[in-house]
Amino acid sequence: MTLNQKRVLIAILSGCFIASLLFVQYRETARKAEEAGLTPAHISVPDSSAECVDCHGEANPSIIDHWKGSTHAESGVACVECHAAETAEPDAFEHYGEVIATIVTPNDCARCHAGVVEEFEASHHSSAGNILASLDNFLAEKVEGNREPFSPHSPTPGL
Ligand code: HEC
Ligand code: HEC
Ligand code: HEC
Repeated sequence: MTLNQKRVLIAILSGCFIASLLFVQYRETARKAEEAGLTPAHISVPDSSAECVDCHGEANPSIIDHWKGSTHAESGVACVECHAAETAEPDAFEHYGEVIATIVTPNDCARCHAGVVEEFEASHHSSAGNILASLDNFLAEKVEGNREPFSPHSPTPGL
């Protein structure tokens, strides 16, 4: 092998080495950006919700941005999938060709997350709001040591 051939060979090998370094660097940067959520998610808007996304994108861009950042959007679960309602439901109303409800309850989530909703409904969390209509808070004050007579007209009954 002549000296010149050796030089060319070394130049080619060095070129390959630098190219592989740059390639690894590029892949690493792309991976980190994806991990940090800096790359746009792969979202396809189902036809049934295309108009909702277009119009609400103008009227309430924050709702659409929030949705676009969600696992639901990535999984093709859009507005109608959650907001759809039956005409007979008390809060249902017609809105641009679809019957929807504003408030999406665990019953709506249950269409897809039946197991999670079943667990939730068996938990104390699902009835926690009932404390407002109960005397449980008064009981808690007694347990804490309050001995004043109970006055339902006091701003803090029992104190
Ligand atoms: C052409 C525009 C347009 C389209 C299409 C549209 N919306 Fe709306 N939507 C609005 C505007 C404006 C409001 C707020 C005024 C109102 O309450 O009507 C609204 C209100 C709402 C509300 C809240 C109502 C309330 O009680 O506060 C929900 C939920 C909603 N839209 C969901 C949807 C869904 C789901 C779709 C797709 C089936 C959709 N929208 C399609 C413009 C649109
Ligand atoms: C995973 C289910 C889910 C999806 C998907 C979803 N929403 Fe909602 N949306 C909700 C829930 C839950 C609420 C809060 C209802 C409440 O106030 O209890 C809500 C509230 C709203 C409101 C009322 C906000 C307010 O404060 O008055 C509007 C408008 C709305 N959604 C529009 C949309 C649009 C447009 C899309 C599609 C891009 C969408 N939603 C997708 C579950 C969903
Ligand atoms: C039309 C079906 C559908 C409805 C309705 C629905 N979801 Fe989902 N949800 C999905 C799918 C699909 C995924 C993504 C796959 C998975 O994690 O199971 C998901 C994922 C989730 C996740 C995991 C998010 C993450 O980042 O890992 C949560 C939390 C969730 N849903 C809550 C809800 C709640 C709360 C409601 C009701 C307000 C709801 N979903 C309504 C289908 C649905």
